[in-house]
Amino acid sequence: MVDTGISKILISEEEIKTLVDSLGKEITAHYTDAGGELVVVGLLRGAFVFMSDLVRKIDYPLVVDFLAVSSYGDGTVSSGDVRIMMDLDGAVEGKHVLLVEDVVDTGTTFSKVIKMLKKRSPKSLKVCTLLNKPARRKVDVHIDFCGIDIPDEFVCGYGLDYAQKYRNLPYIGVLEIGG
Ligand code: IMP
Ligand code: MG
Repeated sequence: MVDTGISKILISEEEIKTLVDSLGKEITAHYTDAGGELVVVGLLRGAFVFMSDLVRKIDYPLVVDFLAVSSYGDGTVSSGDVRIMMDLDGAVEGKHVLLVEDVVDTGTTFSKVIKMLKKRSPKSLKVCTLLNKPARRKVDVHIDFCGIDIPDEFVCGYGLDYAQKYRNLPYIGVLEIGG
């Protein structure tokens, strides 16, 4: 991994596939008798890779929509300030909503987005994240479908970025900040 800025692979491509398969099964089982429309909402940009794999493992009719919020700028520390940069295209009132995130860190982003979506009166609202950093939590959030807990390290790849880079790595690695 010389010159990539990634010091070690935390979750390999194969391991990611296993996690996504199992989340897909769990989510499918949950919605199987739900009835009604399902909108899978991805948080841009980090969730785009995970979401594209995940929806192909959900065996229930669904539509996808996206929400872009900004909280981090180009740094690795949350400013605690979440702004909506791009809103959903469609209404979610009376529909099942599954919110998909790449990583829940302090919980700030997720909790604010959850609050905002609840105000739109969905039939149900469930949340799914591939990665969870419990050690970093500042705001309590209930996660319905969680891929894996990871330690307090800044990770990149499989959609996750540092200063918008590394999103295309097929694995999730730990970034060696400063070298
Ligand atoms: P929170 O609001 O602190 O939970 O931060 C969640 C957001 O921060 C996620 O949507 C990610 O975009 C970003 N983030 C948190 N930790 C990491 C990381 O280790 N790598 C890349 N992005 C991260
Ligand atoms: Mg991000």
